Amino acid sequence: GFAAAAGHTSLALADKPLTIGFSQVGAESEWRTANTVSIKDAAKQAGVNLKFADAQQKQENQVKAIRSFIAQKVDVIAFSPVVESGWDTVLREAKAAKIPVILTDRAVNVSDKSLYVTFIGSDFVEEGRRAARWLLERAKTLPAGDINIVELQGTVGSAPAIDRKSGFEQEIKANPNLKIIRSQTGDFTRAKGKEVMEAFLKADGKKINVLYAHNDDMAIGAIQAIEEAGLKPGKDILVISIDGVKGAFEAMMAGKLNVTVECSPLLGPQLMSIARDVKAGKPVPKRITTEEGVFPAEVAAKEFPNRKY
Ligand code: AHR
Repeated sequence: GFAAAAGHTSLALADKPLTIGFSQVGAESEWRTANTVSIKDAAKQAGVNLKFADAQQKQENQVKAIRSFIAQKVDVIAFSPVVESGWDTVLREAKAAKIPVILTDRAVNVSDKSLYVTFIGSDFVEEGRRAARWLLERAKTLPAGDINIVELQGTVGSAPAIDRKSGFEQEIKANPNLKIIRSQTGDFTRAKGKEVMEAFLKADGKKINVLYAHNDDMAIGAIQAIEEAGLKPGKDILVISIDGVKGAFEAMMAGKLNVTVECSPLLGPQLMSIARDVKAGKPVPKRITTEEGVFPAEVAAKEFPNRKY
């Protein structure tokens, strides 16, 4: 009868695997690799058919990937936007095709917020503030006078670079001795972090008291540059970074990194469950903020065994 047929239809629908097209930033850092693993593993666990595209840190590749997901009529598009701006057109195309978009990790800057359903990720401004607060505390134990900071920024135009810079700047104002004397992008990579730190050291050498790196990978690259310049990272130059990857914990245990502010890449399981809800037409919050901590070197050895990325 009708009821049986209807029941059968809904069962068939429930059985159809959800297809998600995911456009990833790239493979620029230890964090990003962990994020990719989290998303792929969670998709497998949830029985989601995942179409994964790596944009190699280029927005044009992400736009292409999103257009191809639209053409393939995926159920949900998810992506971590390499930069904040320039998404209006392609997101309007997704909306016209009635494909919901979920942002993970990084935000977009669009005037029409209905162009995405939700944004799952960290509060990058708060991460910058936390990094600064650690330094404000530490500064109380340092000799009086200027404390010269060099900053390694993330990818130009990316949400984490913009927000981590502004959060840090807001907070260090509380101590007029804290001065950012140089600030340049290291594109979130070890190689660039090392290269730019070499230039900073050449220009300012012993004047530098603190390095603030927008991620652990750049800090790890810079640590090498500091050592090659004959200085002691973690002592002659305090090193502060963000992410909390295993490499950062190892550097802290070796006394070369002073603190890492956590930014969790383990967004996969949450993405899968939110995508399911979105597909089922359930309401979801517009912003889902990841909860995270701050790990100074003093707790690194104790925390290391608990780290998952
Ligand atoms: O968007 C998150 C940032 O991107 C991470 O802090 C960084 O390591 C990654 O490349």
